[in-house]
Amino acid sequence: MRNVVFIAPFPMISTTFRFAKALATLQGIRLLGVFQEPPHGEGTRVFDDHVVVPDALDARHLIGGVEALRKKYGHPSRIVGILENLQVQVAQVREHFDIPGAPAAVAERFRDKNLMKDELRRHGIPCARHKLLRCDEDAWQFAREVGFPQVLKPPSGAGCLATYRVDNAEGLTAVLREVRPSPHREVLAEEFLTGEEHSFETITIGGVPRFHSITRYLPSPLEVMRNSWIQWVCLAPRDISGKEYDEARRVGVDVVQKLGLDAGFTHMEWFRRPNGSVAVGEIAMRPPGAQIVRITSLAYDADLYRAWARAVVDNAYDGPWERKYSVGVAFLRGTGAGRVAAVEGVEAAQRAVGQLVVEAKLPIIGAPKSSSYEGDGFAIVRSPTTETTLAALKTIIETVRVRYQ
Ligand SMILES: Nc1ncnc2c1ncn2[C@@H]1O[C@H](COP(=O)(O)OP(=O)(O)OP(=O)(O)O)[C@@H](O)[C@H]1O
Ligand SMILES: [Mg+2]
Repeated sequence: MRNVVFIAPFPMISTTFRFAKALATLQGIRLLGVFQEPPHGEGTRVFDDHVVVPDALDARHLIGGVEALRKKYGHPSRIVGILENLQVQVAQVREHFDIPGAPAAVAERFRDKNLMKDELRRHGIPCARHKLLRCDEDAWQFAREVGFPQVLKPPSGAGCLATYRVDNAEGLTAVLREVRPSPHREVLAEEFLTGEEHSFETITIGGVPRFHSITRYLPSPLEVMRNSWIQWVCLAPRDISGKEYDEARRVGVDVVQKLGLDAGFTHMEWFRRPNGSVAVGEIAMRPPGAQIVRITSLAYDADLYRAWARAVVDNAYDGPWERKYSVGVAFLRGTGAGRVAAVEGVEAAQRAVGQLVVEAKLPIIGAPKSSSYEGDGFAIVRSPTTETTLAALKTIIETVRVRYQ
């Protein structure tokens, strides 16, 4: 029996729980959890045992939690977690117990966007010019070098939080007042990349990406964050084998290998610039959010949650799979603030494209408006062609209206 430790502050969040369930399907596994909040309901059956620690983002607490489990069940064979802001700590815990998996130095390169871009640039991989700001003058110096627009963001952010687009000197003055860079509060400035934003996922084993997939963001996450009413779409095109994706594929594989990941799921963001070339936005050594694992699974008729579990626990990949469908997700959001008061147009959308909707979660009346770009609900559409899927998603976002009060 192999002990697999899953670290998650809140294990019952449905997107997190899907990964836990996938781990539980592996052969000969004792699934142990280190959480900040105990599981309940189905969670108590999925985990064989767990410990609760006061702060699941603190490596010392995590080490204490794993040690308690180790005393009871013996040495863990794997320690894994899917959250972006846990990756370095999970790697530190692995190092502490001498357990296989990415070391902290590799996790840092995937987590710290400044380090990441230094490394990408060193290897000649195209990405935005960047500078770590420790004072206002650093920002003005960078502005003289690259001009505008720029993006200012935390070096290790996630979910687009505190990410600002800056279009001119007045904008920079205003954002600097907000973010106040200092040696204790570094801010990352990047030249603004224009173009169409995409993602590139891999399942990598032994340093070799064995599987990859591409999705398109319509519009870009930053645009979506800046406009809380935008109902946006993430689309997996039916076919990604064509020449138009050759460079993205080459760059995507290069990034994983140059940053030194041995095994895991990776999630990269990249831009197709107006001249057709590819520039890397960033990469994470974890599965993506925004329903991308789900839509990718549906595109290949495969279980990518399980594929993640097989990769990180068994170092195994059960594909290749055939990409059979175009799948996309529309995120349901709307103008205004407060709580969800009404969801209009659902029946009309259902009549128009309901036969293509394979999964949906409608906003819950009375729930507080979500601050995330994933909005308050979603609908997933699947069809044999990209055009049909995209048209159906467009119908949904044009027909469904979420009202807040
Ligand atoms: N240099 C850039 N040029 C253009 N757009 C950018 C740039 N940096 C960030 N963005 C926009 O801001 C979004 C968020 O930036 P980034 O991915 O670095 O932050 P994040 O907090 O890790 O977000 P997430 O967790 O959603 O991936 C990107 O998806 C992109 O739309
Ligand atoms: Mg990102």
